[in-house]
Amino acid sequence: MLELIQQSAHHILEKTNHFKPTIGIILGSGLGGLVKEIEVKYTIPYTEIPNFPQSTVHGHKGQLILGYLSGKPVLAMQGRFHFYEGYDMKQITFPVRVMKQMGIEKLIVSNAAGGMNPEFQLGELMIIKDHINLFPSNPLIGKNDDTLGPRFLDMSEAYCKEYRELAKQIAEKNNIRVKEGVYLGVSGPCFETPAEYRAFWRLGADAVGMSTVPEVIVAKHGGMKVFGMSIITDLGIEGHVENVSHEEVLKVATAQEPKMTLIVKELIKMIG
Ligand code: HPA
Repeated sequence: MLELIQQSAHHILEKTNHFKPTIGIILGSGLGGLVKEIEVKYTIPYTEIPNFPQSTVHGHKGQLILGYLSGKPVLAMQGRFHFYEGYDMKQITFPVRVMKQMGIEKLIVSNAAGGMNPEFQLGELMIIKDHINLFPSNPLIGKNDDTLGPRFLDMSEAYCKEYRELAKQIAEKNNIRVKEGVYLGVSGPCFETPAEYRAFWRLGADAVGMSTVPEVIVAKHGGMKVFGMSIITDLGIEGHVENVSHEEVLKVATAQEPKMTLIVKELIKMIG
């Protein structure tokens, strides 16, 4: 696998005159707003990158954007890969391996998620404190390449505490309401039944979504620091589970974009 990762990283570095981002960003559903804030230097479609999987979901573009955000060199993935699309865990997380190979040590991830915490409102911003992996697999299954990371990975602080504190301070300073909570990752593509939302809340999760967990596991495997945020686009609160559609998820995510963008921009200023 190392050879494939090196090949992709090498291609990106060649195409960008050896531009060296320090932060990787994975942009989730409807969070494209951040892209408009990037001073774009290079755009590379996934189709041009050797060994990269391709994106199939409506509303997800498939390209890497390299440039400056808050004056810091970043690499943003516009379009990510999901388990429900049929990719395996290694394919989904391949771009994170490539980021690490390029020298990126910090990862910022965003997603849309359904909220189970009864204190949550529609459109709530949630800083991810921790996760529960209920995907039917794990990207680290199989022979471990010790040059990429350890066989048995410590996950006691998957989401960097320092970054979470900084994000909370930024939110407070800018009068942005944020919550902190546990994200539970599932394969999808079904949204949850009321019984599933209830079960996940009882398991200790505040929100549920179909991404992020695989990428974060691999980022941690590579020793990267991670910051993650969810936009609560629908509510799966006991007794109040409503109809949910992809369109509705995108609509709510888009409406909340500017707040999330501001937090991430300010955070990058501090950590980049
Ligand atoms: N469940 C799973 N994934 C999601 C949801 C949800 O309710 N909302 C947005 N992504």
